[in-house]
Amino acid sequence: MLEAQDLSVSYGRIKALQEMNLTLEAGEIVAVLGANGAGKSSLLKALQGMVPPSAGQVRFKGQAITGRSAAWRVGQGLVLVPEGRQIFVSMSVHDNLLMGAYTRRDDTSRDIDAIYQRFDNLAKRRHMSASVLSGGEQQMLAIGRALLSKPSLMMLDEPSLGLSPLLVKSLFELIRDLNRDGLAILLVEQNTHMALATAHRAYVLELGRVVLQGQAQALAADPRMASAYLGE
Ligand SMILES: Nc1ncnc2c1ncn2[C@@H]1O[C@H](COP(=O)(O)OP(=O)(O)OP(=O)(O)O)[C@@H](O)[C@H]1O
Ligand SMILES: [Mg+2]
Repeated sequence: MLEAQDLSVSYGRIKALQEMNLTLEAGEIVAVLGANGAGKSSLLKALQGMVPPSAGQVRFKGQAITGRSAAWRVGQGLVLVPEGRQIFVSMSVHDNLLMGAYTRRDDTSRDIDAIYQRFDNLAKRRHMSASVLSGGEQQMLAIGRALLSKPSLMMLDEPSLGLSPLLVKSLFELIRDLNRDGLAILLVEQNTHMALATAHRAYVLELGRVVLQGQAQALAADPRMASAYLGE
């Protein structure tokens, strides 16, 4: 479904991502792990088309998309839930959701109802300003907004950041539910334990390079994981 080939991202002289090779099959949850500054967000932004890669190729559903705009990619079913949620705080909850359907020309009302059924707290606050939502509700809104573009692959950039342990648990349950419903997921996380318990496969980035990759279960038990990244 998704393939990055020798993908590199630079900001001037800073090499944020260096020759990354990544694949993701339909139905998979793939995690990308790494410490602060490892290049995780740069990877997702390049895959979404928000930063131009300095080298490399991206393919999605069999077509080369490297030069395509972010909006075009959303229309093709590739959507990013950005780091820090990036909801529109000056708009209502409902209008935030509508923004997620921006690329669609068909009737979205049933899909919006489905979002409200899934996220009760959003339904109750649909006419309120998004600025009154808690951190957990804002994350649900960001995910709901992304779902309204009818994605086949959702990329999530540190969705658990700043959430209480209870909310983190329900967030990962949601990710599993969405995946069971057929959504492929590329998950960037610093919560290594939860991410590896949820994902099928994972990549570990260090200073812009992949240092470990493999089945999530195997990585969770890999001593190199602890020494390279977990600091244990
Ligand atoms: N717009 C930018 N301009 C210059 N340097 C940047 C920019 N964005 C990121 N960088 C640098 O690129 C490197 C990778 O950053 P990136 O945000 O991709 O890492 P990350 O793994 O997402 O980190 P975090 O866990 O803190 O979100 C870092 O050294 C960062 O300082
Ligand atoms: Mg980041």
